[in-house]
Amino acid sequence: SYPARVRVVEVGPRDGLQNEKGAIPVGIKAALIERLLAAGLTTIEAGSFVSPKWVPQMADTAELLAMLPARQGVSYPVLVPNLRGLEQALATGRVEEIAVFGAASEAFSQRNINCSIDESLRRFEPVVARALEHGLRVRGYVSCVLGCPYEGEVDAAAVTRVAAALAEMGCYEISLGDTIGTGTPLKARRMVQAVAAKVPVGHLALHFHDTYGQALASILACLELGVSVVDSAVAGLGGCPYAQGATGNVATEDVVYMLHGMGIETGLDLDRLCEAGALISSALGRETASRVARARGAV
Ligand code: HMG
Ligand code: MG
Repeated sequence: SYPARVRVVEVGPRDGLQNEKGAIPVGIKAALIERLLAAGLTTIEAGSFVSPKWVPQMADTAELLAMLPARQGVSYPVLVPNLRGLEQALATGRVEEIAVFGAASEAFSQRNINCSIDESLRRFEPVVARALEHGLRVRGYVSCVLGCPYEGEVDAAAVTRVAAALAEMGCYEISLGDTIGTGTPLKARRMVQAVAAKVPVGHLALHFHDTYGQALASILACLELGVSVVDSAVAGLGGCPYAQGATGNVATEDVVYMLHGMGIETGLDLDRLCEAGALISSALGRETASRVARARGAV
């Protein structure tokens, strides 16, 4: 059976924009987030405190956070790879939630965060502990859960091991990333089933990129297991800088259209989401990757 309600985590401003080559004015990012708020989103991943040499596009995260409206019930999570990033996040005084990000594949871990999986877990431990001491919520990502750009197939046992380690550290939710979007529905479901043996489905989220056009089908297959949190990016923005060829996350508009069509509540306004997608697509000078937005005549 399907969940009655799904929580949509908007990752467009972070995952969607981190790979953009051209400078995006911070005011555009703030305007995008205001539109996402207007659409009803309450969790909007705003940026990352990572090395600006590695990911220049996220270098304005502190400046952006200072521009965002403080709203009851709304959080703007940020990615944090190490203690240095956590200090920066805390210094803004605007962060209530962080995410640490690991991977199920060694090669991707090396390329993305320059260390092995085990080193990353050792590095995250004090980050999570200190964040919890400061009253922050901590989310954990696992990348490459359905395939790696460098290693190909990834074993569900490797995903489970990292997911369980992050949950054990104190991450309230583990977001399972199909970083390169090569997953297919039954494979996705089996992977989630394997992880759920160690981390209950109520603590899992789906973070599927749509490179091969499989994301909606795979989400559906996993919702059937009772997962009720989905990460997506408005207009299908994005791609990971350390996963060549990977396109954006599944489009928020498309996820919401599917869920509403199934009678599943999201609390989101599809028209307003399309407006947010239109704003950022036009700022980037690009056609939206959302099929729903295109069908409804957005730019
Ligand atoms: P490193 O080179 O191993 O670390 O990088 P380091 O500690 O030796 O530091 C190197 C330099 O970075 C130093 O500067 C540090 O000061 C600086 P330098 O002396 O060369 O001038 N530095 C920092 N600067 C700002 N903030 C920090 C920070 N830490 C060090 N927090 C590091 C290790 C993790 C820092 C680096 O590899 C990095 O920043 N990687 C970024 C990776 C990233 O952001 N990837 C994209 C997000 S993950 C993703 O998209 C997947 C996801 O969507 C899920 C999915 O789809 O699968 C989440
Ligand atoms: Mg991602």
